[in-house]
Amino acid sequence: MARITASVYTSHVPAIGAALDQGKTGEPYWQKVFSGYEFSKAWLRENTPDVIFLVYNDHATAFSLEMIPTFAIGCATEFKPADEGWGPRPVPVVQGHPELAAHIAQSVIQDDFDLTIVNRMDVDHGLTVPLSLMCGQPQAWPCPVIPFAVNVVQYPAPSGRRCFNLGRAIRKAVESYDAPLKVQVWGTGGMSHQLQGPRAGLINRAFDNAFLDRLIADPAGLSQMPHIDYVREAGSEGIELVMWLIARGAMSDEFDNKAPKVAHRFYHVPASNTAVGHLILENQ
Ligand code: DHB
Ligand code: FE
Repeated sequence: MARITASVYTSHVPAIGAALDQGKTGEPYWQKVFSGYEFSKAWLRENTPDVIFLVYNDHATAFSLEMIPTFAIGCATEFKPADEGWGPRPVPVVQGHPELAAHIAQSVIQDDFDLTIVNRMDVDHGLTVPLSLMCGQPQAWPCPVIPFAVNVVQYPAPSGRRCFNLGRAIRKAVESYDAPLKVQVWGTGGMSHQLQGPRAGLINRAFDNAFLDRLIADPAGLSQMPHIDYVREAGSEGIELVMWLIARGAMSDEFDNKAPKVAHRFYHVPASNTAVGHLILENQ
């Protein structure tokens, strides 16, 4: 049977993609950001899964205000990098895993979560920047990726509690897939940031670090936090953090009580307008 081996959590920032694509990673400003991912790139080379289930948000790129799926699972064979206004990023096309994606859709929808099936979709910085941070600049991404888009752009966004329970349903789905695949679940977006309005530029280090602590040690409790607390403490775009609870809900300790191993933890301010947080948790 397939199994979930680890979860990875990381912020996404379009300027990080631009820094990589334009060869600026050695500049002092960016060097500090990328230093937090040196361990992670080596770790991923050592621990390459068969499939990455990548939870992210689309930023009104593939979707628009015309159609707003709360949860959308990418079932296509491939996903092209999106043009977000400056041309597509010069990164590899994402290869999907249609069989596992269809199996997860079947299992999770029968488990009462409403997913939108997506058979064609371009993927924006929400998906490609985490891949770049973890993989560098390869000719091809190291394994197939199932994109899983969550609406955190237009209210109502799903609650942290629903995201956490969805993660549990995804674990059940993966573990009922009849092939010995190693699967990682990645939760992306966040940490504190606000891109508009009078509080634009907001960063909250205390909140972010407490979020990381609780994500590791008390995810079920953390999942009860209401939206208003994310927005008040972490800024309007801090709501992206609910996506991390999907990856956390898919970890084994929710079922066998064995705490995951914290393989890596990193926090840095600033990257563009965002606090960058990053965690790697391994199932024991
Ligand atoms: C920034 C952060 C985001 O999450 C995003 O989607 C766009 C921009 C930023 O920090 O500039
Ligand atoms: Fe974002």
